[in-house]
Amino acid sequence: MNQEVEIDTSIQTVRGMHDVLPEKAAEYLRTETRAREIFAAFGYREIRTPILEFVSLFERALGQSTDIVEKEMFTVKDRGDRLLCLRPEGTAGVVRAFIENGFAKKSAINKFFYCGPMFRAERPQKGRYREFFQIGSEYFGNEAPAADAETIQLVSAILHSAGIDSFEIQLNSIGCTECRPKYQQILTEYLSGKSDKLCQDCQKRMKRNPLRVLDCKIDRNILEQAPKSQDSLCENCTQHFTQLKGLLQATKTEFKTVPGLVRGLDYYTRTVFEIYATGKTGAQDALAAGGRYDTLVRELGEENVPAVGFALGIERVLNLIAPDLNESTLSSNNVTIFVAALGTESTEKSFQILSELRKNAYSADGVLNNQSLKSQMRLANSRGARFCVIVGEDELKEKSVTLRDLKQQSQTKVPMEELLIHLKKVTG
Ligand code: HAM
Repeated sequence: MNQEVEIDTSIQTVRGMHDVLPEKAAEYLRTETRAREIFAAFGYREIRTPILEFVSLFERALGQSTDIVEKEMFTVKDRGDRLLCLRPEGTAGVVRAFIENGFAKKSAINKFFYCGPMFRAERPQKGRYREFFQIGSEYFGNEAPAADAETIQLVSAILHSAGIDSFEIQLNSIGCTECRPKYQQILTEYLSGKSDKLCQDCQKRMKRNPLRVLDCKIDRNILEQAPKSQDSLCENCTQHFTQLKGLLQATKTEFKTVPGLVRGLDYYTRTVFEIYATGKTGAQDALAAGGRYDTLVRELGEENVPAVGFALGIERVLNLIAPDLNESTLSSNNVTIFVAALGTESTEKSFQILSELRKNAYSADGVLNNQSLKSQMRLANSRGARFCVIVGEDELKEKSVTLRDLKQQSQTKVPMEELLIHLKKVTG
């Protein structure tokens, strides 16, 4: 056979994707665990939605002209030629699940949280990955500003719990379906006068979605003078925004109103916010972001259910904090007890002892590969073991084990069947 087949032999991660190695994984776990405690305290329940969804879900939810939908989705076709993609964010899937499972009929208020991977084919750089993990929440059924304030407090609490104390909450209101069209018109008129000075992307955006132009990093100078959404808000939106700011002030939650703030996703109405690290470690990318989306449930389903939520990028949070040395045990692979078997005869008994220790919730390990006692002790020390259970020929005959206390540098013989009782005494 002379057929040439091109085979990709490279065994490496896909560009923009990262292995989360054990030490880092422990940091993810710690951040998630603390967040889960906070979600529980705020009355949120976990929801897990699929990583694969139909592309049409995101086209409809996020908007056709958003960067994510236009350029950043990882798409695949299923066997029926339907277009699927790896979810680029969590909100659309949660809204789909909310509608599909009839949550609106079960309860007037539904509060969910999620943790998991999201995928966007962005240009990889520090803090911007193609697979990244989000922690987020979605609060359905409450139009009141109290739900927005709760969401902002929730994300602040999670950032604090992750060890980030210095951050700035940037806040704006982009209006509702009633007042936004008027603002869009005013903005378009302003932008039309400057269109030859705008970048190519913005010239396109101006026609399809003028609000997105405000998000441009290139045309900042021109956009500084642009009309602000706050000046076009209707009575209800003005009241909503004023009340939200009042609630935040009343709870001493510091924020900064940023009149030019818009978001890169089309589903938002009224409140939008972004949170940035400040101080020495200040990074230019948002740590977390979110806002209200009162029309999305109706647009994807039929019920009219207001909603508000946020998502935080775990990598961006972890990039900011030094590993917590006090919690190094979390990320290490230390064990309490190391079982050393001397000679092949004792392997079986040692394995039984190891299993028994683990069953009784001791963190225990042993390699049982017939190495010398010296090298097994070296391993026990490198694993930070407090005790070593040694099983050799003599011990086998005597039905005992040698229990070496590696901290006290002492050892004693213990009958095998009394090992657990003895350990309980010495480990308290
Ligand atoms: P987003 O602003 O697209 O909003 O993303 C939220 C957070 O995810 C960002 O602030 C950032 O921390 C993180 N993030 C986004 N892209 C990347 C990336 N390429 N690499 C690393 N981290 C990234 C949403 O996703 C909305 N679903 C938030 C929301 C929930 N709004 C309402 N409910």
